[in-house]
Amino acid sequence: LCVKPGIAGPRIDCLPEPSGNQTVCESRGCIWNPVDNDIDGAPWCYFKDGVGYNLASQIGSTYNLRKNNGPRNPWGAEFENIQLRTSTIGASVLNVKIGIDGRYEPPVDFPRETISTPETLSFTTASSDDLFWFSVIRNSSNRKIFDTSLGGLIFSDQFLQLSTYLPSENVYGWGENAHQSLKHNFSRYLTWGMLARDQPPNSGNLDTMNLYGVHPFYMCLEPDGNAHGVFIFNSNPQEVTTAPGPSLIYRTIGGNLDIYFFPGPTPALVTQQYLAFIGKPFLPAYWALGYQLSRYGYNGLDEMKQRVGAVRDAGIPLDIAVADIDYMNRYKDFSTNDNWSGFEDYVKQMHGWNMKMIPIFDPAVEADYLPFQRAMSMGAKFIEWDDYSQVQQDIQKLYPMAKDTKIMLGVVWPDHHVGFPDFLDSTGKTQAWWRDELELYHSKLTFDGIWIDMNEPANFGTNELHPWYFDDNDHPNDAPLFCPTNGSNQWDLPPFQTHAVYYYGGNQNNAYLSSKTLCLTGVQNNGTYRFYDVKNLYGLTEAIQTQAALMDVTGKRGAVVSRSTFPSAGRYAGHWLGDNTARWEDLRTSVIGAQEFNLFGIPYVGSDVCGFLGQSNEELCLRWQQMGAFHSFFRNHNTLGEPAQDPAVWPSVASATKTANLFRYQYLPYLFSLHFQASQNGLTVVRPVFFEYPSDTETFDLGYQFMWGPRILVAPVLHQGAVTTNLYLPNDVWYSLFDYKYGSQIDAGYITVPSPITYRIPVFVRGGSAVPRQTPTTTTTMSRHNSFELLVAPCQMGRAVGVLYWDDGQKIVDSFDTHDFHQFNFNFNSTSSGAQLTISRTRMGTVALPTMDIIEIFNYPSPPNFRSFTLNGSTVNINVQSSTYSGITKILYISTKNL
Ligand code: GLC
Repeated sequence: LCVKPGIAGPRIDCLPEPSGNQTVCESRGCIWNPVDNDIDGAPWCYFKDGVGYNLASQIGSTYNLRKNNGPRNPWGAEFENIQLRTSTIGASVLNVKIGIDGRYEPPVDFPRETISTPETLSFTTASSDDLFWFSVIRNSSNRKIFDTSLGGLIFSDQFLQLSTYLPSENVYGWGENAHQSLKHNFSRYLTWGMLARDQPPNSGNLDTMNLYGVHPFYMCLEPDGNAHGVFIFNSNPQEVTTAPGPSLIYRTIGGNLDIYFFPGPTPALVTQQYLAFIGKPFLPAYWALGYQLSRYGYNGLDEMKQRVGAVRDAGIPLDIAVADIDYMNRYKDFSTNDNWSGFEDYVKQMHGWNMKMIPIFDPAVEADYLPFQRAMSMGAKFIEWDDYSQVQQDIQKLYPMAKDTKIMLGVVWPDHHVGFPDFLDSTGKTQAWWRDELELYHSKLTFDGIWIDMNEPANFGTNELHPWYFDDNDHPNDAPLFCPTNGSNQWDLPPFQTHAVYYYGGNQNNAYLSSKTLCLTGVQNNGTYRFYDVKNLYGLTEAIQTQAALMDVTGKRGAVVSRSTFPSAGRYAGHWLGDNTARWEDLRTSVIGAQEFNLFGIPYVGSDVCGFLGQSNEELCLRWQQMGAFHSFFRNHNTLGEPAQDPAVWPSVASATKTANLFRYQYLPYLFSLHFQASQNGLTVVRPVFFEYPSDTETFDLGYQFMWGPRILVAPVLHQGAVTTNLYLPNDVWYSLFDYKYGSQIDAGYITVPSPITYRIPVFVRGGSAVPRQTPTTTTTMSRHNSFELLVAPCQMGRAVGVLYWDDGQKIVDSFDTHDFHQFNFNFNSTSSGAQLTISRTRMGTVALPTMDIIEIFNYPSPPNFRSFTLNGSTVNINVQSSTYSGITKILYISTKNL
């Protein structure tokens, strides 16, 4: 009765498909009620009330549910009987599992650990008429955090739906999508697809496309600032609608509804609880935090050498050269192109410069050369058809090595057909073959890390009569993959196909779940798994095996980055945000994307700096370099055919990048310590500002700024032509760390600061911080040997604290209990009688440490008596000649002697 005109109020869509009309709607038994002046995008066709189940019986925490007399869904008969079971993991994580025993469960091995917290949740049920619903309540505040009284519980074989009211609109996460704002917008009905596909992000307005990975996880800040997280452990194609209410309608087309609630109550604790459950992020090698130069389309090794040389000559810190598929011979994994002869010598030379090399490997392996033959003779498995009748007879004839197999042959970069290794092979033979190939190739090219791409997996031209690469002359050597019955089967064209198809295909023009990937009819592990169920796990399973192989082959931890991810992928790999475009809006969405991937437990994340598709330009590239310098995975990458966009191309970009990279390299001990803590304790590195200020509602939608760990706030410049930046500093003590009033205290609140391109982007350190640094040089390895520095930015009380973690930068971390590392705690206190710095070593490693030669203290009240400066109770030996104090800036700069 009270809805505003044009706003319909909660409706559960009965016609999410793109085409349909009143007749279709009513034939489904649903209500057709177009909304005039459609402000919130509410569905015109929606379910009548009463969709759901009733409670047949309850035994302890098991609820037997029976399909009620309410409406039925149009996408397949509901199961008459399903079960809901609740349990707690540790004392605080609540699991609500709705399903049927024996249905598909994703084969992902989470550690399922918990961390202790006094916060608890409880589960309550209720019913009205014959409709059962449940709520999850935070006990400490009695707040309902999940409330399914909205109705709409549907459980049929290939269509499952659950809806809930939310306690607030402050909802973050779900992925992988390109989000325009960090916080979801609940004023409209918007459906977000979740299906791993080779889909470049289109950062246009309201683009809800599914991208490379799947993350059914969100965090919600309740009205009183408490935070909770919700994870739905399901790997089928799925989607979520964010809707007025605020409410969520989640739909998936297989498996069970296995839901985990993490009580927080702080955002940081939610992440810790989630990551304890799914697995904490891997610790990248120290060098992997260095700057990376990449492009697709080097015409040979000489061009790589030339661009790497230009960047080095410009004095820009650079650690890693990345080799895209150009280095391969006709895009075949484990081979080298003739234009790249001498590559290994160059890699050795780069190693001599303390640089590293990361090549790309695609999962698809051509079915007619040695590595494939070795796979066959080792008994390695590839994704298969589920029976011989489906084998592509005409195509298989061309590949004697694949004779008599059920391998599904696809088309990717190589000239001939490819197979896709089955990383779920329970015999371990596929994994052993993959490892052996990497080892063999490593004996020819001593790479240090691995980039895995196209692992959604991508397949070109599936079900397309005339795919873009098609050349009739070659037929059938490049014949596309057609799924059984041309894609019209239960798995490629299920009754409900999800937003991933409806959106992609618009009006279903040639769109299938299998579009741009393999047929979902496929199977893995000898038929144990249907590709329809496990497709979204392909990138994760490849990452698991690739990390294991890299560590095994190199004996070091290195770093792997993967395009496709699923919850827990962060244990094995980092991620880049995919094939963005060189546009300002893509720079902006990458700021949000990196924060989201930190919530997903993948802190080693970044975007293609300067933009991948399209031609970049000087100003955009400069700003992207400046921003990217704060992302853990920091790589300039460009596509085939576009002009070079490395920073050496433009003098202004070279100069800004040099400055930005030197800043990053100076703060690497801090960045590394953040990663160390993230790995050890399940924390974030780049994080939303609300993580640190959860009671400040102004921070709730501050997606275009971020915290770099707990101590540093970054407000990147994200608009063309900007010479000033508007930003928000939460109520705290802040000091500028950039060219504007460096070291001075800056008032909190909404402020505007100058940000010409000659300045570093606005960066601030929070009062109360002791931040470890190091004198920077042009590689991380050389910087590591320089002396340490400590930046002290005291709070009002003159105090500051901080930590430093330090290991050899490359040893494999088997367990933090046995890992060889140092941990230092810094505690600074300045009073009228002098300053005391206490550095306590709380963990003693064996790695040699540089001395700490510089201590920079902000807001030091008065000219110091250097002799009164004490460390761990003793007077510090100060190099008085090179120490300074300015009464104007109040910066005390102490040069110590071999601290
Ligand atoms: C994919 C990757 C891109 C890479 C290209 C060629 O599009 O996302 O980063 O450059 O393939 O390998």
